[in-house]
Amino acid sequence: MRVFVILPAAGLGTRMAPGHATHTAPKQFLELAGVPILIHTLRAFVAVPQVFSLVVAVRATEMERLSAQVKEHGFAERVRVVEGGDTRQESVSNALHALDCHDDDIVLVHDAVRPLIEPAVIRRTIEAVEKHDAAIVGLPALDTIKQVERTADGAIVTATIPREYIVQAQTPQGFRCGLLRRAFAEAESDGFTGTDEASVVERAGTDVFVVPGSASNLKITQPGDLELAEFYLKQRSAAAG
Ligand code: C5P
Repeated sequence: MRVFVILPAAGLGTRMAPGHATHTAPKQFLELAGVPILIHTLRAFVAVPQVFSLVVAVRATEMERLSAQVKEHGFAERVRVVEGGDTRQESVSNALHALDCHDDDIVLVHDAVRPLIEPAVIRRTIEAVEKHDAAIVGLPALDTIKQVERTADGAIVTATIPREYIVQAQTPQGFRCGLLRRAFAEAESDGFTGTDEASVVERAGTDVFVVPGSASNLKITQPGDLELAEFYLKQRSAAAG
């Protein structure tokens, strides 16, 4: 059994710089403590010995830049760069086609813009997939969660969902390769697009196990997130002495 990693990184990051996405670097290339976010993410996975190889999906226009960075940081042997698609699901699908994994191998999909993932959480996710075939990292909800109906001037609460029933889906999300391929093929033929890989696997009828996550595994999405990530990084290096 081998472990493969897919990093979808072909988003435009429009929430990071609304209205200016075409004029700025996509968020996965922004720097965190002087190093591109995507390189931090790659480092976390390369640090896990079980990880056999990684595929990063980026926009066609970013392939050259990323390949150079991968080389510069010494990851070229284990990391391949492929072209992403118009949706996250298409980007993951392209990367999945580029993998030569066997049905029993494990594929972890991780948001390129979650650079603070800890190697211990990656290892726990791999262990959970070995046991359950499908597992995601999830963060228990702290806030009370409301279901709403959108209205012209906002939203109206239609239900309160007990928070013990809620986790916020993070990544990595891991699956047996054969299972993920079958679920993606079904979703494609049904025209289903999910916002994460687990939703694609869930609709194929497989139970997905949850591994506890942490708030520091944040998805760098909007202005302010970079500063928060720098704060977590500093805390981590202070704790490491
Ligand atoms: O848009 P969202 O926040 O869900 O993005 C999560 C991850 O999916 C990001 O790393 C982003 O670069 C990636 N993505 C992608 N291809 C797209 C859209 C998003 O690889 N077309």
